[in-house]
Amino acid sequence: MIRKHLVGIVLAAMATTAMAQDAAPYTVAEGNKVDAKTMTGWRTWRAAACERCHGANQEGMVGPSLIEGLKKYTKAEFIGIVVDGSHADRGMPPHPFLKGEKADGLYAYLKGRSDGKIAPGKVFPME
Ligand code: HEC
Repeated sequence: MIRKHLVGIVLAAMATTAMAQDAAPYTVAEGNKVDAKTMTGWRTWRAAACERCHGANQEGMVGPSLIEGLKKYTKAEFIGIVVDGSHADRGMPPHPFLKGEKADGLYAYLKGRSDGKIAPGKVFPME
């Protein structure tokens, strides 16, 4: 009984990993070494000071947790909220200056945080 349950957990974990690998917009090693795009995302996160409202570890403050938030939206929806300000009426300011690779990077970085693959805090370029 317990054994059967464990097999289920392992299979579910494998399926989740496979899905994450198919879809992952980021590459990460050892929790904090990331590819160039994700690095741009981290720098953009810091420069735009998203943490003022969403918390240094993306877990929410005035604004909601982005660990949870990134599970709800496609990349296009994310960009709509962050860049175009589609939630501006609810307190999320538009950031038109983040268009393009900065928004791409932000999505990659936050997706990695939401997936639990990127550790909280500073990240570093991969070798
Ligand atoms: C002035 C405070 C503030 C700043 C700065 C801010 N946000 Fe927000 N953000 C909010 C609030 C408030 C909401 C909730 C809006 C709503 O209810 O839909 C939100 C919502 C969001 C959502 C949707 C979350 C969800 O669960 O629906 C995303 C994604 C998001 N913000 C990303 C960012 C990013 C990335 C940055 C930095 C570029 C940023 N925010 C900067 C206040 C802020």
